[in-house]
Amino acid sequence: MYKSIIRPILFRMNPEKAHDLVLKGLRIMRRIPGAGAVMRMLYKKKPAPQLARRVFGIDFPHPVGLAAGLDKNATCYNELSWCGFSFIEVGSFTPEAQPGNPAPRLFRLPADQALINRMGLGNEGVDKAVERIGKDRPEVLLAGSIAKNTGSESEEEIRRDYLRCFSTLYDFVDFLTVNVSCPNVEGLQRLQGAGYLPALVDPLLEMRMGCDTYKPLLIKVSPDIEKEELDGLIHYCRLSGVDGLIVGNTTRSREGLKTPAETLEKIGKGGLSGAPLFEKNLALVRYIHEKTQGGLPIIGVGGINTPQRAQRMLDAGASLIEIYTGFIYEGPAFVHKILKYLNATAEGGKKQ
Ligand SMILES: Cc1cc2nc3c(=O)[nH]c(=O)nc-3n(C[C@H](O)[C@H](O)[C@H](O)COP(=O)(O)O)c2cc1C
Repeated sequence: MYKSIIRPILFRMNPEKAHDLVLKGLRIMRRIPGAGAVMRMLYKKKPAPQLARRVFGIDFPHPVGLAAGLDKNATCYNELSWCGFSFIEVGSFTPEAQPGNPAPRLFRLPADQALINRMGLGNEGVDKAVERIGKDRPEVLLAGSIAKNTGSESEEEIRRDYLRCFSTLYDFVDFLTVNVSCPNVEGLQRLQGAGYLPALVDPLLEMRMGCDTYKPLLIKVSPDIEKEELDGLIHYCRLSGVDGLIVGNTTRSREGLKTPAETLEKIGKGGLSGAPLFEKNLALVRYIHEKTQGGLPIIGVGGINTPQRAQRMLDAGASLIEIYTGFIYEGPAFVHKILKYLNATAEGGKKQ
């Protein structure tokens, strides 16, 4: 029903408006008695126990989560959990609310099953997010993504921004992710470099040492990262106590797309997500997994639009996976479809 009726209607609308409408619709459904139960019955099936796993000290019922950027303001994580996600990454949050880039800033590339976005980390700020999470207790494991405000440029301002988001969010989520890889904020990706990262992440790790509870901290990397920079980042993570990597964010590359060059030119700058990203991020996951001999847990994300791709991402060394664009194209039954396939594959493996 999603692909034949709902998606064609949504895809006729402006992408950002369609996104907002869906989240609003989910929130309205929450207020209708029984609607949540019906959604859960349809989409949130009990996962097979063999899909459960413990990663960086957290017990996940299965490996499939929702990537950052869909529930940017933490307004809908419980409603989205009806679709069966094992965990949901909310944010990215900045200390102060910010509008992001001017619209239009989100574009569909149906021929490629992809999106291009230059949202620019628009969000209502971390304080508003924790206020919401505090009021609406998460019924799903929650990760919180943190970033800096666009106007924060000096090393001191940037450090302060991440620390403020980290300390504000710490008690409200199960693990935290440091976004230093969004391609739509000028200069953000340079923070991935081993020259910058310690100044940014060390204070977060120090703050954590003073906390009563231990919350894992992950860093999200860009698929466009240079190999030397990546090696430096891996080295730092292994020495410092960073718990894992999210691999990865959207790419600036437009290689191998079916969408005509004139259309791409009209769209302009932005991060590409969805199917064309898959092989690139898969290779990055495999490289990091091999380089660390599995010693650094990885959440694999980018272009997972079929259950087979989910399996390949896990086979390449990801402990968990996340989806975003695949969810937009495939709809609310997608998590269940992936889990059914993963389970069948695991069963097949056991029989052999
Ligand atoms: C519209 C949009 C907004 C996004 N916003 C964020 C964000 O705020 N923080 C972040 O870490 N990643 C963000 N992402 C990146 C996704 O979390 C994910 O890494 C990327 O889309 C690749 O996965 P996919 O191919 O399954 O979409 C965003 C992606 C999209 C499409």
